[in-house]
Amino acid sequence: MGNPNKVKAERGFMRWVDDRFPATQMWQDHMAKYYAPKNFNFWYFFGSLALLMLVNQILTGVWLTMSYNPSAEGAFASVEYIMRDVEWGWLIRYMHSTGATAFFAVVYLHMFRGLLYGSYKAPRELVWIFGMAIYLALMAEAFMGYLLPWGQMSYWGAQVIISLFSAIPVIGPDLTQWIRGDFLISGITLNRFFALHVVALPIVILALVVLHIIALHEVGSNNPDGIDIKKKKDESGKPLDGIPFHPYYTVKDLVGVAVFLFVFCVVIFYFPEGGGYFLEKPNFQPADPLTTPDHIAPVWYFTPFYAILRAITFSLFGLDAKFLGVIFMGAAIAVLFVLPWLDRSPVRSMRYKGWMSKVMLTLFAISFLILGVLGVLPVTEGRTLLSQVCTVIYFAFFLLMPFYTRLEKTKPVPERVTG
Ligand code: HEM
Repeated sequence: MGNPNKVKAERGFMRWVDDRFPATQMWQDHMAKYYAPKNFNFWYFFGSLALLMLVNQILTGVWLTMSYNPSAEGAFASVEYIMRDVEWGWLIRYMHSTGATAFFAVVYLHMFRGLLYGSYKAPRELVWIFGMAIYLALMAEAFMGYLLPWGQMSYWGAQVIISLFSAIPVIGPDLTQWIRGDFLISGITLNRFFALHVVALPIVILALVVLHIIALHEVGSNNPDGIDIKKKKDESGKPLDGIPFHPYYTVKDLVGVAVFLFVFCVVIFYFPEGGGYFLEKPNFQPADPLTTPDHIAPVWYFTPFYAILRAITFSLFGLDAKFLGVIFMGAAIAVLFVLPWLDRSPVRSMRYKGWMSKVMLTLFAISFLILGVLGVLPVTEGRTLLSQVCTVIYFAFFLLMPFYTRLEKTKPVPERVTG
């Protein structure tokens, strides 16, 4: 039955399944006989942790949906009901809201690993592009989720971001109205965000994660040395520097999961609102379209891009500052998609790149963090100037990459992984 070359269990129940579904084959291809480089380090924990957080968000999200009321009249009260009256509701809600923060923290570290070891370079361009698509979908997912508690910051944060679309010439105002489904953010907006947050986007994200991992397993994992382990194989065709993902990395990743869960539990039990950074203070008041909060800021994981938006205070080429800001903010994300083609270095890992790449990556990371901090603070003249400097560095990192990665002298890459 089926493809005779397929790996199948010898006998028993698994043989019965394998004759109908390639279970053993899939297990071997992706786990027991997937050879991963043996020198994975700290940075390689975050892929499996991102998976864990995805599962956490889906499970806690399903349970929240059981008691949440997606209407302008009932949403805020239903969240309070979950927090006070639903058994363990507070825990489920904090696992989800603080979970969003943890998810982004893990994904940012996961992406930084890519920059550090050149994981986006050939042949892993599609792994990176699927990753970026996940990142975009994740941002949309988090943005829409934040409207659902229908607190003051839900309302006004969404108001600020949706109104950005009105800066687009010609179609802007109509587009904004189309997104809201109304002349202002209303229960109609809440309903459509609920549908997208709970059904459409999770399906898209799950599908993208499957594509991300299929693409990765097609070419094999990169490693901290950035070398191709498939080049050196033993007589049986196994990479000399590879070890089977299962049991070696399943067990190692479990250690990462345990440590991560300790930190996650500490935050959930003792610091669930993150001092107003994970759940902002105005969100403990119900949405009021007539009262603007003193200071509107997005949640921390969006603030670097929000700071870039606010850094653009001038008009250029006849484009007004608001629209230009939107273009810069979009470009800050779009440029990440083409990263595999900007890096012209003959080596992948930062370990063997020259000093220019190291300096640029360090400056980039510092600027990104500074932008993140600036994005939560109210604007002052000095802060605007600093955000402009950081925006220049942010873009310089990418746009000058084709030059400095070609100019600099790289170190010789070893034949085998160095551990
Ligand atoms: C829901 C979010 C995500 C999940 C669940 C996820 C999952 C994974 C997993 C399980 C791996 C293999 C283990 C590892 O190398 O750490 C991986 C590798 C990778 N991911 Fe992601 N990922 C996510 C988001 C992203 C994003 C946003 C990017 C970048 C834009 C990205 C880029 C990469 C790259 C380049 C690799 C290959 C790394 C290497 O081989 O060195 N991922 N991902």
